[in-house]
This record gives sequence, structure tokens and C-alpha cells, in this order.
Amino acid sequence: MPLDAFLAPDVLMQRIAEAAEYLRSRAGLTADPDPQTDPEFGIILGTGLGGLVAEMNVETEVPYDEIPHFPVSTVESHRGRLLFGTLEGRRVVAMQGRFHYYEGYSLQEVVFPVRVMARVGIQRLFVSNAAGSLNPDIEKGHLMVLRDHINLLPDSPFRGPHPDALGPRFPDLFEAYEPAMVQKALDYAKQQGIACHAGVYVVVQGPQLETVAEYDYLHRIGGDAVGMSTVPEALAARQLGLPVFAVSVITDMGYPPALVEPVTLADVIAIAGEAEPKMTAILKALVAQA
Ligand code: HPA
Repeated sequence: MPLDAFLAPDVLMQRIAEAAEYLRSRAGLTADPDPQTDPEFGIILGTGLGGLVAEMNVETEVPYDEIPHFPVSTVESHRGRLLFGTLEGRRVVAMQGRFHYYEGYSLQEVVFPVRVMARVGIQRLFVSNAAGSLNPDIEKGHLMVLRDHINLLPDSPFRGPHPDALGPRFPDLFEAYEPAMVQKALDYAKQQGIACHAGVYVVVQGPQLETVAEYDYLHRIGGDAVGMSTVPEALAARQLGLPVFAVSVITDMGYPPALVEPVTLADVIAIAGEAEPKMTAILKALVAQA
């Protein structure tokens, strides 16, 4: 990609500001940031995992295609709207539907909503996704909280000219996923009898699923689960200094090789839907305590 294909730093910052300003007005927030009324947390809901919305007290719904400069979601399983309201009495903004690299967006586009939510005031990011297991102990229908990741995407949201206002040019990724939140999630899951592990999420570009040999390789390099999302958004949040919590719902087995079966999007959505109440319970507990 030639250098002039990237947005200039001032243009990117201007777009973030315009989108945030539009959302503040749609959500009835004050024109200037106000920690008393701005959303405290951002939540990104993954494939088949939009049901958390039913637990929210939604005050304002904004379809993505009405937000200036927002990418428009292309995958049918994603609805594509931003919801402002409360969850467990805490002010949140939730993305129902996210943007994936495989849809053709640049990673700068994929993370645009995170940068906008940060500008709207979120102090913390929660992310969910559907993923394949690379660890025999982590079974279909179980949850896996991310304690770390391995990024196999061929691009970075930070590639190109860098606006200093977004944070460091070379963001540090030590403890990228807040250890205290990982522990809280594991403790809560144990107390509730929910099968939940902590592990390493490998992100691949997709959209094809892995061959048996590829799942085996991803297991060998240290992955516990594999998926096609979450890491870009987590990176953008970390650059901005926001703590991140992320959880995978395991929808299929990639390891050991004998357990690999054909997988369809319908299977992924059905299994994610079955496990969703457990994930929703964990997110609610964390939001309430955060
Ligand atoms: N691989 C990659 N992404 C996925 C998978 C998988 O097995 N399951 C759900 N998302």
C-alpha cells in the first residue's frame, strides 16, 4: 500500500472527532466530555453473541450507516448498530456487529469504532468472539478468557502515519489483557459452575477456516483458541491506554487432529448461541464490579 493511501493524521483525528460528536448528540450527551454522564465501558459483541443486548437497558440505537465515517458491516450474522444505555446500572455503549479484516476493511477501518468510543468517553473495553479450540481441555461450548494473544494478521492498525493523540507510536503489549479482570472472570465462572479457561487467542485473517495441519501448527506455537477478530480492537484500545477484557466462546475443536470436523457458519452461530448465556453472565458480573 503506498503511503498516500493512508489517512493523514489530522484527517483521521478529524473523522474520529466528527463521528464522536455525532454520537454524543444522538445519545443526548453533553457537547463536551462529562465523566458523570458519558458511557463508562465499550462492549463489542461477536458472532452469535448479540444477546447481551437483551440484558441492557437500551436508551439510544444508532445504525452504523448513520454514523459519519463509520464502516458499514457486510456480514449477515452481524446487525450493525451502536447501542447506548446501561447494563447492571453502569453506562455502556455496545457494538452489535463488528468489522473484520476478511471483509476487506483496512485494520485502520476495523479499529475506527474503538477510537470513536474512546473519544465518547469509555474507560474500558469488553470484547467477545467465537473461536475454535486448539487445546483439548477447552471444549466446544466452553468459554476462554484471553490472557494473551498471538497476532498472525498481515497488517497492523498502527501501520502508516501516526497521530500522536492516539497514544504511543510503538504501543507496549505487556499484560495486554488486564490480569485482574481475567482472574475475576475465572473466579466468577468457578463459583457459578461455568466451564471457563484462560488462554492464548491466535488471530488469523480468514475467512477460510483452518486445515487440520494449520490447527496443529497454531496449537504448537502456543495457541489455545483461534479466531478472526478481537486483536485489532484490543490493540487500538491498548494504544489509547484502555484496559481490555476479552472472552471467546468455543464453537469447534481444532485440536487434537482427530477431533476436527467440518464447520459451517450456521454451526458456529448455533453453538455460540447456546453458550451465550454463560458469557453474558460473566460480562455482566465484570461490568457490575469494574
Ligand atoms: N477458526 C477460525 N475462526 C473461528 C473458528 C475456527 O475454528 N471457529 C470460530 N471462529
